[in-house]
Amino acid sequence: MPSTNSSLFLCLFLAATSLNLIIAADPDMLQDLCVADLNSAVRVNGFPCKPATNVTASDFFFAGLAHPGATNTTMGSVVTAANVERIPGLNTLGVSLSRVDYAPGGLNPPHVHPRATEIVFVLTGEIEVGFVTTANRVVGRRIGQGEVFVFPRGLVHWQRNVGSTPAAAIAAFNSQLPGTLGVAAALFASEPPVADEVLERAFQIGAGEVRRIRRRLAPH
Ligand code: GLV
Ligand code: MN
Repeated sequence: MPSTNSSLFLCLFLAATSLNLIIAADPDMLQDLCVADLNSAVRVNGFPCKPATNVTASDFFFAGLAHPGATNTTMGSVVTAANVERIPGLNTLGVSLSRVDYAPGGLNPPHVHPRATEIVFVLTGEIEVGFVTTANRVVGRRIGQGEVFVFPRGLVHWQRNVGSTPAAAIAAFNSQLPGTLGVAAALFASEPPVADEVLERAFQIGAGEVRRIRRRLAPH
């Protein structure tokens, strides 16, 4: 039978472990840095580290968020990611950023990040933001320059530019690679396609409507 001390230790360990599971997104780091070797054939959770002697400042640098992205897209918005795929030094660090640019009326359409909570900071303009809880409740509002809003991990969320000028925001994530699954694209523009019958029944629409949405969302 375990001693009182070891039972106490076990309880504390389990509490700490479950707390870590609740508050952490990516697993914690075990060394100062582990710059991703993006070309390695080795598959691990994250990326293997490149040799420390090959690490340079450019592994931790990215200038790609300095300027607006082109918003002449179907949705009138564009997301520029600054994650481990662009900044190898982010490997194992559990954070990343994106810049989102919106044309007037532009929408960053409903999507989820399976591996991160997101916090957005508006650089310019005014956007309407929202997410849906698992109780199907929408939580949203308008936010303007200098204001922030949080999208909890795994919940469907979106932003829409409600102003008459371009808008831009910076999004921060507690994951080096949050992953993005666009709801409409996942269902109507996947490869191989989701069966028509699934979409017709789920959305209560006809075959013609499924075809029309597929055509509109097909990658150009
Ligand atoms: C905004 O929601 C983003 O994911 O960049
Ligand atoms: Mn997002």
